Amino acid sequence: MNELPNISDATLVLGDWITLGSSSVTAEQKESIMRVAKMMMPWRKGPFDLFGVKIDSEWQSFKKYDLLRPYMDLEGKVVADVGCNNGYYMFRMLEFSPKSILGIDPSPLFRSQFDLINRYAGVQNLRYEMLGIEHMAGFGEMFDTLFCLGVLYHRSDPIAALKSLKQSLKKGGELFLDTFMIEGEEPVCLVPESTYSKIGNIHFIPTITALRHWFKRAGFESFEVLEIVRTEPDEQRKTEWIPGQSLEDFLDPGNPELTIEGYPAPKRVYVRAHR
Ligand SMILES: C[S@@+](CC[C@H](N)C(=O)[O-])C[C@H]1O[C@@H](n2cnc3c(N)ncnc32)[C@H](O)[C@@H]1O
Repeated sequence: MNELPNISDATLVLGDWITLGSSSVTAEQKESIMRVAKMMMPWRKGPFDLFGVKIDSEWQSFKKYDLLRPYMDLEGKVVADVGCNNGYYMFRMLEFSPKSILGIDPSPLFRSQFDLINRYAGVQNLRYEMLGIEHMAGFGEMFDTLFCLGVLYHRSDPIAALKSLKQSLKKGGELFLDTFMIEGEEPVCLVPESTYSKIGNIHFIPTITALRHWFKRAGFESFEVLEIVRTEPDEQRKTEWIPGQSLEDFLDPGNPELTIEGYPAPKRVYVRAHR
């Protein structure tokens, strides 16, 4: 981070690509930003354009953002994004003029990506804490709106995780959450033997009925399914900003309905719940 140049006239433009612009940036400064950004690989979420350095992340995160955007009502709200990664959605949500957005993610690498962007964006009401979903209860009725996207399946005790989220919400506050799901009416879960879609730490993949029961047990007042979406290879794909493989390598080459392990291919459910 100390290598990064000072750019005094940086401007932030929020679109599918989160873009920082400047009329004064030099080729040498761009090279230095490129070098630092490469040291921070993998870039999972994005994309970002830093003064012409185009960070084409593994995920086209605007697809998830666009899906939730019509449901967002964030003006003046105290918001947290739990599992925020590098803060892509936090920057995007600034369009609604929230009072503040706190990003929660224990990863020092993703925090450094956030710090790189916000060093130039300079947004004062964004803050990042290297904590986890398990610490949310400690915020005691602080938030109007919570986002917890793509985290629940990483928790070995999903009901405890939901309780922790609930305790950080004001009464009547809302939570947006997405998680992998399986089809079926029964309140049951898929428990992968080891990996799911080559991801190592996936514990439970519920039916929507099972998910509803988790929310009920955690004490939420309402539970509403917003969207059900399959992850397609145009949303998650290999780019030069990640080492190794991406979605197309995680599916059965003979049958894209299945993961490489023979489980149903990744499908996500987006829900909204109120405390
Ligand atoms: C699959 S990514 C989802 C990122 C983003 N929320 C999204 O939906 O695009 C999971 C994120 O959860 C973060 N994470 C890992 N352990 C966590 C924990 N205990 N609490 C909160 N986030 C965690 C990871 O660092 C990673 O950024």
